[in-house]
Amino acid sequence: MDAIECIKTRMSIRKFKIDPVPADILLKVIDAAKWSPSYKNSQPWEVVIISGQRKEELSNLLVQLLDKNTPPSPDLPKPGPWPPAIDARISALMKKRRELTGKDFSSAEVRKQSKIANFRFYGAPHGIFLFQDSALSAWSIFDIGLFAQSLMLAAHAFGLGTVPQAFLTDYAKDVKKFLGVPESKRLVLGISIGYSDLESPVNSFRPDRRDTEEIAKMIE
Ligand SMILES: Cc1cc2nc3c(=O)[nH]c(=O)nc-3n(C[C@H](O)[C@H](O)[C@H](O)COP(=O)(O)O)c2cc1C
Repeated sequence: MDAIECIKTRMSIRKFKIDPVPADILLKVIDAAKWSPSYKNSQPWEVVIISGQRKEELSNLLVQLLDKNTPPSPDLPKPGPWPPAIDARISALMKKRRELTGKDFSSAEVRKQSKIANFRFYGAPHGIFLFQDSALSAWSIFDIGLFAQSLMLAAHAFGLGTVPQAFLTDYAKDVKKFLGVPESKRLVLGISIGYSDLESPVNSFRPDRRDTEEIAKMIE
């Protein structure tokens, strides 16, 4: 697969096969991601991969916190309110999801079940958490975003599916305590990873993109 095909065919996977990924492949994915650029080559990323029984325990903990109506407290503040043009794109995405799944995401119960699916890593055998020191600037958050994209593209090239998940940062403090990560670290993103279940209808949906002409202005 060439780079353009890899970028264009990567998509968020929300149903995985249970089969675990060999540890050496997971490490090869990280080994590729570490070649991402970063501000002054600062490489502001730390990675924890969780699997097996411990992953199940972490899922249970997150679901328990949700059941107790614990307010989310991510290290990065939730975004919004969105400017109208972006808000319209998000609404269009939600509408398409509703049509595909038959689920009404304006219902609190549907939203809760969707969070639970996130907390259960969409059935993936592994969860990846990306951390960095909380004292780092916004440039480092930018850098870890580049790392995350490289990681997901490398995974795709190895025949794996991924989904980036802000929801996995909802209970950042608890996740850090569970994983033995110092509280001084910032949890930026969770990513589920595994073999995609391509027979699941949820994985048949790929959100569209803005027209290139709308995004880019060419000046001569
Ligand atoms: C920073 C970030 C956070 C995201 N959080 C979630 C999430 O919590 N749960 C989820 O199912 N998808 C999440 N996504 C996936 C987006 O919904 C997805 O990337 C977008 O709809 C485009 O679809 P694609 O990845 O299939 O191209 C997130 C994506 C990014 C970049």
